[in-house]
Amino acid sequence: MPLPNQPQESEEAVEGASPTGPRRRFFAWAIRAIACALGLGFLVPATGYLISPALKRRENAWAEVGTVADLPMGDPQELEYTQTVKDGWRNAAAKKSVWVTKQSDGTITVFSPLCPHLGCGYRWNSGDQQFQCPCHGSVYDVTGKVLGGPAPRPLDALPTKVENGKLWVIYKEFKSGLNRPVEL
Ligand code: FES
Repeated sequence: MPLPNQPQESEEAVEGASPTGPRRRFFAWAIRAIACALGLGFLVPATGYLISPALKRRENAWAEVGTVADLPMGDPQELEYTQTVKDGWRNAAAKKSVWVTKQSDGTITVFSPLCPHLGCGYRWNSGDQQFQCPCHGSVYDVTGKVLGGPAPRPLDALPTKVENGKLWVIYKEFKSGLNRPVEL
């Protein structure tokens, strides 16, 4: 029983002052939902920005590998060079090599140095006029065509261009053991 002198609050006054019961719970839920939405709106793009370089394929750029006039005609040369490779957030210097052939008509072809069978390094045998792989005996002619052994496809040719007498190459690696080149 309320005391006779105790002030009585009307229901409207109580409702206007602060929400109670179901209304209070609804407001709390709505505030939490808005906070979560704002947090996700920031978190998702920020996370994507931070990890996307790590998920990207390793990027290789054009690299100058030599002077075209210095290449002997018909006798493949292994050229070594250092390339800057962008790998996620970091740039790394990587030592690379490629096999370069210059035909009598001036055509230049550059091959990946890895045997398409299982990825061993192969050599040019000038006496036999063949590329020969020591691992399982695959043999290729000067154009990269398979002459023998278990190699499932020709040598992998790389993108090339000539600018101001310089030979440029994009180094790529391919899955071994397949009958067509599939880039890694
Ligand atoms: S890796 Fe070259 S023949 Fe097997």
